[in-house]
Amino acid sequence: MQIIQSKNELRKAVKSVKRKGKTIGFVPTMGFLHQGHLSLIRRAREENDIVVVSIFVNPTQFGPNEDLDAYPRDAQRDSDLMVAETVDIAFYPTVDALYPKGYTTYVEVQGPMTQVLCGRSRPTHFRGVTTIVTKLFNLVSPDRAYFGQKDAQQATVIQQMVRDLDFDLQVVVCPIVREADGMAMSSRNTYLTPGQRADAPMLNRALLDTKEMIEKGERSVAVVSRNIEKQISGIEDATIDYVAVVNAHTLEEMEMLSGEMLVALAVKFGRTRLIDNIRIEV
Ligand code: PAJ
Repeated sequence: MQIIQSKNELRKAVKSVKRKGKTIGFVPTMGFLHQGHLSLIRRAREENDIVVVSIFVNPTQFGPNEDLDAYPRDAQRDSDLMVAETVDIAFYPTVDALYPKGYTTYVEVQGPMTQVLCGRSRPTHFRGVTTIVTKLFNLVSPDRAYFGQKDAQQATVIQQMVRDLDFDLQVVVCPIVREADGMAMSSRNTYLTPGQRADAPMLNRALLDTKEMIEKGERSVAVVSRNIEKQISGIEDATIDYVAVVNAHTLEEMEMLSGEMLVALAVKFGRTRLIDNIRIEV
């Protein structure tokens, strides 16, 4: 595995791959890799000649009172995991390289898609994501880029951006990887206290319960939302940021349940904000 820090070195490596007519699969991450990330890397490995993974904790997607400084990092462990997955290039840029002094350009998907759900409590988050992902796409020139359904809104926003800005690549969205007890894997799970960790699978349980209700015929958004809220409000230490049922493609709120839906939630366990979702089709 080639470990590359500089943008120029990365561009050289990418040019040489392209000259040979090989395809590039790209997995952008913020590191502290877990099985969720590895599932994207494996999919990229299956579908491309060369796999590039970036590890970069992107400051522009964190709000002023969020966990940028505390975000977990372990470069050695990440490298070992990537070598085991036969990643070809690990790109570890520095903040100064990607956002040098005088940096002023941002890429923003406008409208409700970035204002609802996580956009409501994190108003500058998606602008940071679309900006860094654009920069990484320009540096890596992937044929395919891999994102997780865990961050469903992020995947939808990136797909919108790729369409709108004519990026010549395919966005591949991969299923959520969960712990044995159903908790969605996340680098942020390391923040949970043992008590919070024990309660966290209730989020997934509430979503599965909702799926069952809908499959049994419930069609009222208010009824299913209230049911999830009731289950979560019973958890000690948990505060709901949002529970929403939206159109899976546009993320628009629904009045009656129909078609392809996304039931999404964000819940704070103490200071740790966890998100989860489930897709349901009726
Ligand atoms: P990060 O949180 O490190 O996630 C990197 C990718 O892994 C994202 O596409 C995310 O959806 C996916 N992922 C995380 N947990 C997952 C799980 N349990 N199952 C499946 N996929 C999972 O998302 C980001 O980083 C950043 O916003 C980034 C896109 C890198 C831009 O900075």
